[in-house]
Amino acid sequence: MLMCPPTYYTVRDVKNPFMRPETPVNRERAAQQWDALRAAFTQSGVDVQIVEPVEDLEDMVFAANQVFVGAGAAHARFIVPSRMRYESRQREVPYYVEWFGRHGFESLDLGLDAKSGEFLEGHGDLMWRPGSNVVLAGHGFRSSEGGVGRFSQAMQPEGIQVVPIRLVDETFYHLDTCLSPLNAEAALFYPGAFAGGSLDVLRGEWKRLYEVTREDALQFVCNGMSVNRHFIASHLSPALERALAIERLEPVCVDVSEFEKAGGSVFCMKNAF
Ligand code: ARG
Repeated sequence: MLMCPPTYYTVRDVKNPFMRPETPVNRERAAQQWDALRAAFTQSGVDVQIVEPVEDLEDMVFAANQVFVGAGAAHARFIVPSRMRYESRQREVPYYVEWFGRHGFESLDLGLDAKSGEFLEGHGDLMWRPGSNVVLAGHGFRSSEGGVGRFSQAMQPEGIQVVPIRLVDETFYHLDTCLSPLNAEAALFYPGAFAGGSLDVLRGEWKRLYEVTREDALQFVCNGMSVNRHFIASHLSPALERALAIERLEPVCVDVSEFEKAGGSVFCMKNAF
């Protein structure tokens, strides 16, 4: 797993409906929360690697977005660099590409340049169905439908199936804000975030889907991370606890409220591979 320390983290502009530059980030508390999250991952048996933070890249701490990480038939370990919607976030991408290059990952270029007009935002929108060769691919707000289309084509020789999912509620701007895989068969989801047809697709992909309320979704319960039979999230609710009990996952609560001011929670703060 890869994380980026929040050394330069702040909320500077509005990239999603959660962000309010007039509400200051408490830097000290952010640093403590990030340390606690890293410790929770480590205690769950995860090896956490670090990419160095870069001054002026205030969202670099959200390590889920800069590259998609995959393993396929044509390339054993590869990344697909993102083309981020926002300029400041585009500047984060080369630092992650460099890190993965140094660690033996091949980089696949989809030609997602300014001229293409397409966007693809890594694991914010591209989500593996655990233990499968299927990637669910959200689009509508940050990744574009065309970006997902190009990604889908590039994944064909890898034997990876890409399932496009249309997002319709701008509050849930990334797929990882409204869908959270618990294991190979089960996921949490907030139905109001999805177009009707995409809801049917989701229902076909999972054996068990646990609905969360809008209220819970706004608290980022769908941005938790299931790892080694733990489910790490910043909030718990009775509905979530029931789902976790059925799936035999141990809830681990880690407050990352300082990061939620930027519209990101547990799942956004790491890249797992
Ligand atoms: N402020 C960041 C942005 O809007 C938050 C990203 C959260 N990451 C995520 N995977 N949802 O780009």
